[in-house]
Amino acid sequence: MKVIKTIEELRPIIKAWRKEGQSVGLVPTMGYLHEGHKSLIVKAAAENDRVVVSDFVNPTQFGVNEDLASYPRDIARDARVCEEAGADLIFHPEPEEMYFRDSCTFVNMGKLTEGLCGKTRPTHFQGVCTVVCKLFHIVAPDKAYFGQKDAQQLAVIRRMVRDLNFDIEIVGCPIVREEDGLAMSSRNTYLDDAERAAALILHKSLMLGKEMIGQGEHDAAKIKEAIMQNIKSEPLARIDYVEIVNPDTMENVDTVEGAALIAMAVYIGKTRLIDNIVIVNDKNKCRLL
Ligand code: PAJ
Repeated sequence: MKVIKTIEELRPIIKAWRKEGQSVGLVPTMGYLHEGHKSLIVKAAAENDRVVVSDFVNPTQFGVNEDLASYPRDIARDARVCEEAGADLIFHPEPEEMYFRDSCTFVNMGKLTEGLCGKTRPTHFQGVCTVVCKLFHIVAPDKAYFGQKDAQQLAVIRRMVRDLNFDIEIVGCPIVREEDGLAMSSRNTYLDDAERAAALILHKSLMLGKEMIGQGEHDAAKIKEAIMQNIKSEPLARIDYVEIVNPDTMENVDTVEGAALIAMAVYIGKTRLIDNIVIVNDKNKCRLL
């Protein structure tokens, strides 16, 4: 697997593909790849002639007291995953390659980034949007692949692409879970055995919400309260947020009608995990999207 570290090396390779009329898919990641990432790469490989995976732990999306230094990294293993999944190359720059010491241009967004993860991570989405915007300019893909696991991020990127007129199709991909329901995440490696067991509370409480809606409960406040009580029954869990929102605007809904996103961030010990489901509730039928 080709691992390219500089923009200067990457650009001529992509230009040569373009000259041959080949389509290009981009899968942005922060590395330490698992089956969730792999599903995005496999889909990209099926839908494009060429696939670039970016593997970059982006410093600007981490807050001052967050896990930038300890974020897991293993480029040799990532290269094997990319190979298996059908990628053509990995773009793996150093932070100095991506950011000038005096970089002062950032992509900012209003409302969409103020709630949910943006509330406790106020600079996070500026970092995400800026790095994804830069990757879009560097790679200029036809399609870019993002997981529903980060539901707010997916909505934010879709909006950025619309607002800034990127000619790129954003492809959203379903959450890949462990057999017991835990959403796959590079951060799951932080969990010890007791925490790993406790982490199941995220998925279980989402399923409780789904069940309530299926039984005819449409009052978002009641559903949210039941979910929060359920999470609180787990001693190792501490809620950051539980919200029920419109999946496109991220605005709170009072009543669950049509599509609703139930999203949560929960600390298990020191590890902050996120998870979500999209419920479609129409004509008294309730299903997961
Ligand atoms: P990272 O957390 O590495 O995730 C890379 C992509 O993989 C994201 O689109 C994420 O939603 C997707 N993903 C992660 N876990 C998944 C799972 N269990 N199932 C399906 N997809 C999953 O998200 C980022 O990196 C960064 O913010 C990035 C967009 C790369 C910008 O730095």
